[in-house]
Amino acid sequence: MTVERSGPPGSLMGKVCVVTGAAFGIGRATAELFAREGAQLVVTDIQAGPIEALAGKLTATGAAVVAVVGDVSVEDDARRMIAAATEAYGRLDVLVANAGIIPLDDVLNTSVDAWDQVMAIDGRGMFLTCKFAIEAMLENENGGSIVCLSSISGMAGQSRQAAYGPAKFVATGLTKHLAIEWAAKNIRVNAVAPGTIRTERVKQLPDEPGGQEYLEAIEKMHPMGRIGEPSEVAEAILFLASDAASFVTGAVLPVDGGYLAQ
Ligand SMILES: NC(=O)c1ccc[n+]([C@@H]2O[C@H](COP(=O)([O-])OP(=O)(O)OC[C@H]3O[C@@H](n4cnc5c(N)ncnc54)[C@H](O)[C@@H]3O)[C@@H](O)[C@H]2O)c1
Repeated sequence: MTVERSGPPGSLMGKVCVVTGAAFGIGRATAELFAREGAQLVVTDIQAGPIEALAGKLTATGAAVVAVVGDVSVEDDARRMIAAATEAYGRLDVLVANAGIIPLDDVLNTSVDAWDQVMAIDGRGMFLTCKFAIEAMLENENGGSIVCLSSISGMAGQSRQAAYGPAKFVATGLTKHLAIEWAAKNIRVNAVAPGTIRTERVKQLPDEPGGQEYLEAIEKMHPMGRIGEPSEVAEAILFLASDAASFVTGAVLPVDGGYLAQ
């Protein structure tokens, strides 16, 4: 299923936006939508070839796009991602803190290394990119907007999410605390909490032990009876990022086919 928008594009015209983890999945769909909406973009990812290819593709459509290769969990890389926006365009208006990994297993099968890795990328990486983004946004007269990728796993318990789930609670927590910290400076911090979304990561599940069964079970747990598409999450991110959400901060918006309403 793809979502076709009606109405003229342009809700991010003149906005400088950084999207982390933009090579694939939700980040990629967001970068593509933001480009159509007139954003000046910095797209970042740990995978050099794919992120440079995306930047080339978007540039060919007439969008202003800079690619930065780096790892969000590494302080200097996170700093470079944000600096690329101020160097290329002179400001930063929007950060989509999306980069993440999704390791799925129960607590008995989750190693200390696996815990540390997801906390470093999904947790510390989000903290670092938010930190440097807020530093840059404080230079703006009109503040800025941050959208973090939480998850239904960052709002409620699930099985086989012993490390990933807690890492997504970090996203929810950062969103709420940073929203309060910076509200007076008009820096809005919100999150989306997607249900299961058909991204590269989720497409790999049938190849993993227990993955197919997990996918079938989780699909049934979404009241709409299906999993979501990256473009459906991108639309919610666009709303929160744009001036249409000018009085929304500290919100965690479910994009989950009704999962959290149960
Ligand atoms: N797919 C889902 O069902 C789902 C549901 C809820 C939330 N989310 C969240 O959405 C975000 C994106 O997930 P996705 O499903 O699109 O994943 P994905 O694997 O399809 O894409 C993630 C992107 O992040 C990049 N990345 C990974 N580690 C990185 C690092 N250390 N530094 C920079 N880039 C890195 C990858 O290369 C990839 O391009 C994640 O934060 C995830 O937790 C996903």
